[in-house]
Amino acid sequence: MHHDHDPHRPDHDDHGPASFDERAATWDDDAKVARSGRVADAVLRATGVDRSARVFEYGAGTALVTEALGDRVGPSVLADTSAGMREVMATKVADGRLPRSRVVDWDLGADSIPSIADRFDLIVTVLTLHHVDDVDRVLGRFADLLAPDGRVAVVDLDAEDGSFHGDGFTGHHGFERDDLVRRLVAAGLDEVTVSDCGVLERDEGTFPMFLAVARSSQARTGGTGS
Ligand SMILES: C[S@@+](CC[C@H](N)C(=O)[O-])C[C@H]1O[C@@H](n2cnc3c(N)ncnc32)[C@H](O)[C@@H]1O
Repeated sequence: MHHDHDPHRPDHDDHGPASFDERAATWDDDAKVARSGRVADAVLRATGVDRSARVFEYGAGTALVTEALGDRVGPSVLADTSAGMREVMATKVADGRLPRSRVVDWDLGADSIPSIADRFDLIVTVLTLHHVDDVDRVLGRFADLLAPDGRVAVVDLDAEDGSFHGDGFTGHHGFERDDLVRRLVAAGLDEVTVSDCGVLERDEGTFPMFLAVARSSQARTGGTGS
């Protein structure tokens, strides 16, 4: 298992869009870069996508995972609800660190979203789903956005006791793997597999992560905008 030493204390951590905006400029300064490299390798191994894959990273932060995927995948669309994170990503696109990437402000958890014409061979979301209010709605929209034979890759925390974020956090305390599998299937995805994906080590404890991969269902025809 891999160990990340994230220096951020819980009270500096992920309590909402404002704190992500504030943290965006220094997001890449610590163990997240190495972690993202390992996550990218694991996602590639588990999904088998290739250099032609159209990628969507949701809750991308500063797009460390897409950066680490590099030219092993095709063009990418990067979404995050934090304007500060989108600004950092836009800088990386402009200075060439994210060639063939486009930054968007899609909030797939919103009640309604504009119609999205893009379809993706790989949708990846890392440590974001536990911040999303309506997980099932977002998973359903992922399913809609997949191309035939596309893959969704979710990396997140295993169920924890709330100490990861500390008091005041209103998101999810990680996920039970079986429950997430059930929700991926309910969203219309197939062939779900779940594997270990390293740990996050903090003063508050050791937090295991999982990688869940699911495939677009043959039965689905797609369609977003609701
Ligand atoms: C813990 S960070 C992870 C960032 C990045 N995936 C990484 O691994 O470095 C969670 C990210 O999710 C974003 N986020 C929070 N709620 C979101 C939502 N409902 N939809 C999309 N992004 C969201 C935050 O702005 C933040 O960038």
